[in-house]
Order: sequence, then structure tokens, then C-alpha cells
Amino acid sequence: MNDSMSLAVVGATGLVGAAVVDLLATRQFPLSKLFLVASSESVGSTVQYGGKHQRVIDLAKFDFAQVQLAIFCVPAQVAAHYVPLARRAGCTVIDHSSEFRLDPSVPLIIPEINADLLETQTPGMLIACPEAACTQLILAIYPIYQAVGIKRVDVTTCLPVSHIGRAGVEELSNQAISLLNLKELKTTYFHQPVAFNLILQSPQSPNRAALSEDGMLEQTQKILHDTTFTLVSWQLQAPVFFGTSQVLSIETRGKSPVNEVYGWYQDKAYSEVSRSDELSPSAVTHAAQQDGLYLGRVHALPLPLQGVGMWSVADNIRRGAALGSVQIAEILVKGHL
Ligand SMILES: NC(=O)c1ccc[n+]([C@@H]2O[C@H](COP(=O)([O-])OP(=O)(O)OC[C@H]3O[C@@H](n4cnc5c(N)ncnc54)[C@H](OP(=O)(O)O)[C@@H]3O)[C@@H](O)[C@H]2O)c1
Repeated sequence: MNDSMSLAVVGATGLVGAAVVDLLATRQFPLSKLFLVASSESVGSTVQYGGKHQRVIDLAKFDFAQVQLAIFCVPAQVAAHYVPLARRAGCTVIDHSSEFRLDPSVPLIIPEINADLLETQTPGMLIACPEAACTQLILAIYPIYQAVGIKRVDVTTCLPVSHIGRAGVEELSNQAISLLNLKELKTTYFHQPVAFNLILQSPQSPNRAALSEDGMLEQTQKILHDTTFTLVSWQLQAPVFFGTSQVLSIETRGKSPVNEVYGWYQDKAYSEVSRSDELSPSAVTHAAQQDGLYLGRVHALPLPLQGVGMWSVADNIRRGAALGSVQIAEILVKGHL
């Protein structure tokens, strides 16, 4: 069994990478050596780990033979190029990008759901993490899925601007400032103004929205290892910085009385469910900067439907992404790598 591990966080200057570094420190991950890697533009800058500043290394010059594990938090096209190089150097990779998620040879892992797939892994393997909204959806429906089975899920996801990274946060900030100062808005990363607006994901290219929403179904089916349920998904771009909100209608195979549903979540440490008479959680007040999943307004679907509706919020960066890869690393360090 390994006691500690040498690890690289690739994309350590980005939103997900910074959260991974923070979680490694706060969860006291047993590191023998930590390398913080990003693009050549970040060379000369530092990232804090456990209160100490550490220099950023250029990905193009990084030797992956120095580390046992790399957590990749970079755009898909960068992962496509460097993940194979890292693996060829014998380094195990956990990847947050969309590049390998649906590759049948790559396990797609949410530790609370299918960590058993990690039992048969070897050094140099690749593990993918799902889209943040997909992780949130699966964690929310899983107790019901386990208890009585699911026929169909309808989900409307309101994505925060940070789901596209730092650039999204900057664009909303700049647009909000411009609007309040009666200046012209600049839209670069979103195809329509996002400040004080709600926009359908990528309507300029109609197929893209559908593809992203289909990706949610494919990832969910892959993780649950089940193709017998239907998932109808809409994704909206909300003017929120951090935290994804989802409205869920879950048609169940067996009976799912609301009082029993509360009980199904009781032993799930990752979720907090508020009773229907309590104020529903929101992305900003409950989820942002937190590691939990917050559910509210659990109610019976109208007859003749059998099932429950609910509302779910979670931090896309921490709960949706970074926590999963750190939990996977914790499993690997305990003996499977
Ligand atoms: N944001 C989310 O909610 C979320 C959730 C789940 C998964 N993901 C995925 O996680 C990944 C990172 O997302 P993010 O939100 O953290 O993005 P981000 O804030 O834009 O950060 C991107 C990171 O990638 C690095 N990078 C970009 N191009 C590079 C290159 N050519 N060579 C080396 N490093 C490069 C950047 O380094 P520099 O600072 O040097 O440019 C930065 O550290 C993406 O694949 C994303 O799809 C994001």
C-alpha cells in the first residue's frame, strides 16, 4: 500500500485546478511531491498550496515521469494532446475535460456511485470525470434509483457562467459593470449578453445545445450502467457566477411517497435535503464554495404520474468537479495504484 503519492495538477491556475489544489490541502492528501502545471503564460506566477506559494511549471516542458498521478483540469483540446503523453510516461491520469468521457475503454467515475470500477486499475490508466451538471444530477437521483428504479427524468439545468471557466466569470463581471454604467456590452464567450439575462445554451448552432444535452444522457447511462431509462434535458445559461441549479421531475418504477423519499437520502453524506416547509436552497446562498449537494421542494408528481419532483443546487467547481477527482486520488493512494 502506498502511503503518499507524487502528483501534478495540470491547469492549477484555473477554476477547477485551484479548487483541486485547495481540496488536496484541506483534506490533507498524502503528497510526497506536488507539481503545479499550467500554460507558458503562467510561468513566473505562483499558486498557494497549504498557505505556501509554489511556482507554476510550463506544461509543454513538464516531464510526467516525475509523478505517479496527474489531475488534468485543462480544456479538452489540451487534454487530448497531453494525456496520452503523460500515460506513456507511466503516469496515471484523472481528467476533468470532455475529451475521454464517452470513450468505452475509459472509466467515467463518480466516487459515491461507481468507485468499484477502480479496483482493477493499473499505473498509467486514465479515469474520466463527468460534466459537473451530470455529477449533480446523478447524485440527486441515485437514492431514488436504488430504492425503486427510475423510468424517466426531466431536468432543466441553469448553468453558472463559471461552467466555461475563468473567461465566463470575467465576461459576466464586465457586462454587469457595463450595464450599470450605461455602456455598450461586449459579448465574447457567450453568444448573447448573459448579464441580467437567461439564454438557451448555444442556440446559434442548434445542434450544439442538443449535443450537450444528449451528452448528459450518455454520461448518466454510462455511470449507472443502465440504458433502460429516459432523460430529457434542457440547459440554460444563467447570470450566476458559481453554482448550478436543476429542476427535476423523476418518474419512478415503484411507489415513491415523499415521506419515504426523505429517508432514502438519510445515509447519503453528500446531500442535505430541506423539508417542503423550509426555504429552498439556492446556488448563491447554499451551494457556492461548498462541497455538498442541496435538495429542496421534494414533492409528489401530479397523478397519473408516479414519482417526485425536486430542486437541486451544487457548486459546479467543487461538488461538480474538483471533489470527485480528489476523492478518486484518495482511493488510488490507498492501494490500487
Ligand atoms: N468550470 C466548471 O464548472 C467545470 C466543471 C467540470 C469540468 N470542467 C472542465 O475542467 C477543465 C478546466 O476548466 P476550468 O473551468 O478550470 O477552466 P479555466 O478556469 O479556464 O482554467 C483553464 C486552465 O487550463 C490551463 N490551460 C489552458 N490552455 C492551456 C495550454 N495550452 N497548456 C497548458 N495549460 C493550459 C490554464 O492555464 P493558464 O492559466 O496558464 O492559461 C488554466 O490553468 C475543462 O476541461 C472543463 O471543461 C469544468
